[in-house]
Amino acid sequence: MAEAIIIDGKEFSSNLRNKIAKDVETLKKERNVVPGLAVILVGEDPASRIYVRKKEEMTEAVGMNSLSYRLDADASQQELLDLIQTLNNDPAVHGILVQLPLPKHIDTPTILEAIDPAKDVDGFHVVNAGLLAIGKPTLVPCTPAGCMMLLENNLGSLQGKHALVIGRSTIVGRPMAQLLLTADCTVTVAHRHTKNLEELCRQADIVVAAVGIPHFVKASWLKPGAVVIDVGINRIPAEDPAAKAAGKTRIVGDVDFAEAVKVASAITPVPGGVGPMTIACLLNNTIQAARNLTPVS
Ligand code: GUN
Repeated sequence: MAEAIIIDGKEFSSNLRNKIAKDVETLKKERNVVPGLAVILVGEDPASRIYVRKKEEMTEAVGMNSLSYRLDADASQQELLDLIQTLNNDPAVHGILVQLPLPKHIDTPTILEAIDPAKDVDGFHVVNAGLLAIGKPTLVPCTPAGCMMLLENNLGSLQGKHALVIGRSTIVGRPMAQLLLTADCTVTVAHRHTKNLEELCRQADIVVAAVGIPHFVKASWLKPGAVVIDVGINRIPAEDPAAKAAGKTRIVGDVDFAEAVKVASAITPVPGGVGPMTIACLLNNTIQAARNLTPVS
């Protein structure tokens, strides 16, 4: 069997961001609106700081307004709630994102439910999660939305496919399963208590791995010709012994890519697969929120 198609998320997301930049122009022309995305970071988590900076740079790059808010790690929950309330009431703000994880003294669900659902560009509010669960996706979590775009671009209709989602997080696994169901797939959701995972995997036309364990999914588990979407971003020691000794690391996915590429018909690499899609989908949600919030003048 021929080696799998490598699904290029970098190129796909770049094309999507170009389309979004045109949508921004249209919104300016037709509604006199510049979409505004507010991003809140609480504390100094190094990975979160990098993600947030990337989100802000890409927001500016498509011509939207990026509003950045930095709160100290010891900021109170009330301080954060007050900021969200101010942004909810600000007509120049169409999207609000609170970077997760939050410091331990802050109750994450309370914060997420305080965001106006119409501005919830992460799609984490119960209203948006509920709309997705009843098959009416509105503002959809960004990573699963990106996975769906890559799948539909590769396969066309997903109707009748058996999809296995490994992982049940509220950010990826659960919304991913709902989107696949809405696309008429037969969906299996696996998690840490699932029995016979390998057997389930062998029956799947589509495998979405979102477990956070390096190289967890083995090539021998895959049905020949399966389409594999790897959501994992795991940092492990470098392969090269000298680099490893120097403390260098590399990023790998949840799938044993080197072997899986010989069995699958298409597969996302890590990095360069799902990762770049997340921010593009965040910007796409911000366009959608801006359209919904502003009437045509
Ligand atoms: N932390 C990791 N992924 C995400 C995400 O998609 N949105 C937010 N707000 N925080 C995250």
